[in-house]
Amino acid sequence: MVDAATELIRGQTSLEPRVAVVLGSGLGGFADELEEPVEIPYGEIPGWPLSTALGHAGKLAVGTVGGVPLAVMRGRAHLYEGFSAAEVVFGVRVLARLGVGTLVLTNACGGVREDLAPGQLVLVSDHINLQGASPLIGPNDESLGPRFVDMSDAYDPGLRASAHDAAARLGFELPEGVYAAWLGPAFETPAEIRMTRAIGGDLVGMSTVPEVLAARHMGLRCLAISCVTNMAAGVLPESIDHKQVLAVGASAQGRLTALLRELLPALAA
Ligand code: HPA
Repeated sequence: MVDAATELIRGQTSLEPRVAVVLGSGLGGFADELEEPVEIPYGEIPGWPLSTALGHAGKLAVGTVGGVPLAVMRGRAHLYEGFSAAEVVFGVRVLARLGVGTLVLTNACGGVREDLAPGQLVLVSDHINLQGASPLIGPNDESLGPRFVDMSDAYDPGLRASAHDAAARLGFELPEGVYAAWLGPAFETPAEIRMTRAIGGDLVGMSTVPEVLAARHMGLRCLAISCVTNMAAGVLPESIDHKQVLAVGASAQGRLTALLRELLPALAA
């Protein structure tokens, strides 16, 4: 299936993207930066899971930004939709086969650390997988990568340094944090958030970790940028609602887009 999907994409564009960006919930704005994009609805790509999440466009866009060829996934599949971990990472595996060597993941998340605030962008420095799932279980496909994958520098230190430089040039703060991935789809309970804090999580979300596992398996360099759309459950005396998640994500898109643009030369290097 990965090969059939790769062939279909090659048949629609002659661009050979080396960089891919996955745009998370409510964070689709960067796709508008693509010049002369070829857009392929996920439904037309063999094997590509059709995400049902709100705030996701559901298409792959391939084009250039400032001369750099890019593949942009406008929306992703999540475990909470009922997809297997292998289905969740299908797109990442296809893009890697297409020749992508650097993967940027964006997501909406809850802020666990109290110095974070809604609307803030945070660079993921590491993750904790609380999803009870991995795309790497089962017989190992040696054509993709090794059985046992080193996750020591999963979020590439060089790319993170470039992201800090880019944010400094643009004049905004870009703190780092550890992303704890929960299965969802319910938001966490306050007790789960206290546990997350106790084990070293700064951010909580429901995505990104399966994709990073699959990408590291295949040797891709990864960078993940989270947008804090709400404080995590129990941090503030208020409830969490998905509409707020999308609205705050939308308000942060300008900065996210500027950051990605500023970072592109380093991503493509
Ligand atoms: N928890 C999990 N995922 C999320 C959150 C949250 O609080 N906000 C946005 N995505």
